Amino acid sequence: MLFTDVIRTKRDGGELRDAEIEFFVAGLADGSLPAEQVSSLAMAIFLNSMTFEEASKLTIAMANSGTVLDWSAEGLDGPVVDKHSTGGVGDKVSFMLAPIAAACGCYVPMISGRGLGHTGGTTDKVECIPGYNPAPDFATFKKIVKSTGCAIIGQTEDLAPADRRLYSIRDVTGTVESVPLITASILSKKIAAGLDALVMDVKVGSGAFMDRLEKAEELANSIIGTAAKADLKTHAVITDMNEVLGTTAGNAVEVAESMRYLRNEERDARLDEVVLALCGEMLVVSGLEPDRDVAKKRCDEAVTGGRAAEIFGRMSTALGGPADFVDNYEKYLPQAAVVRPVFAEGVLSQVDTRAVGNAIIELGGGRRKVGEELDLSVGFTGIAPIGTSLDTNRPLAVVHAASNADADLAERNLLAACGLTAEAPAPRSVISRILEG
Ligand code: URA
Repeated sequence: MLFTDVIRTKRDGGELRDAEIEFFVAGLADGSLPAEQVSSLAMAIFLNSMTFEEASKLTIAMANSGTVLDWSAEGLDGPVVDKHSTGGVGDKVSFMLAPIAAACGCYVPMISGRGLGHTGGTTDKVECIPGYNPAPDFATFKKIVKSTGCAIIGQTEDLAPADRRLYSIRDVTGTVESVPLITASILSKKIAAGLDALVMDVKVGSGAFMDRLEKAEELANSIIGTAAKADLKTHAVITDMNEVLGTTAGNAVEVAESMRYLRNEERDARLDEVVLALCGEMLVVSGLEPDRDVAKKRCDEAVTGGRAAEIFGRMSTALGGPADFVDNYEKYLPQAAVVRPVFAEGVLSQVDTRAVGNAIIELGGGRRKVGEELDLSVGFTGIAPIGTSLDTNRPLAVVHAASNADADLAERNLLAACGLTAEAPAPRSVISRILEG
């Protein structure tokens, strides 16, 4: 088969045959397709989309491009369930959600991604923890999930390798915001993880890949429908991404905020609502708790009672992190050379959240080209929520940068991304909708 013909078919708005999709996925997984052809087809799919049948075929082929985990022989006494986000800025939910869900009786084999486009990635963030191995062998991964209830790792060589390659190419070729490509990317990893059930966090707003509710619903329905074809029961929670989630955005700074949350010291209201809604939904979708409010209460108690923090500590240690990481995270996380506040005057009324994500890339906290090394210490902390009155006592945020020149640029980018008015805008709900498969 000539791959140029496959590209031309999609370029001209045609439908790909099963054999063509399989050829594409095989060439991704074994590296035989060159990046320029992969990015060309990705752009053609981005522009002309795929039918539901094509997207489902692509998803299943990508899931089967490597090892598919099977938990049936592990003798687990609870459901194997996970959550995945479509991507946001400041989205550190996984660090809290995995140990909370584990504390409530779930087993969470979380296979996360690296940063994608302007959004951050959990795999990059876990690498801030010294010694933490985000790519253990499967036997170790299974052992840790079984003994602690969760393990957050990155994509290994063997798990959905086709997605691993396509993901890194989409990241730098402007081909991320495509319903079939996002569906296949996310579900290939989740199907390969051998889950019983999944909760999707479908982000909507200025910092999401889907900026409007209708698009977010289209993506949620595509994921739920495709997951059903693979017998993976999925619920989707549509959550707001019109501003940074929580008070930090970057890599190490988000891990630090997550530790403060797990230690029940600082729980930003919007972040808390998203964490509890998604964790609660994991208990609902996996049949552990029929009542959503009760489920959220159980999740909250896992934090206030300290069980989630303890599980995170055990998981992180089992993966090679320091035994006292939760207690002494500040000692271990990389620190930026320049840390200084950014001031503005007025009420923060609007945020171009994608521009905030791009400002982090410019600081060195995200990638501009495939495989680029990150500066994990940079980003923003103390980020004011929309509605905050800003003045010389209340900064917009604190910038963490490698140099004064970088901090100057980040400050200009952040100020340009924020709208200030005299009056506070009407409050916006964080959770828009829950869709059930
Ligand atoms: N997360 C993924 O794993 N893939 C995407 O395409 C978007 C978000």
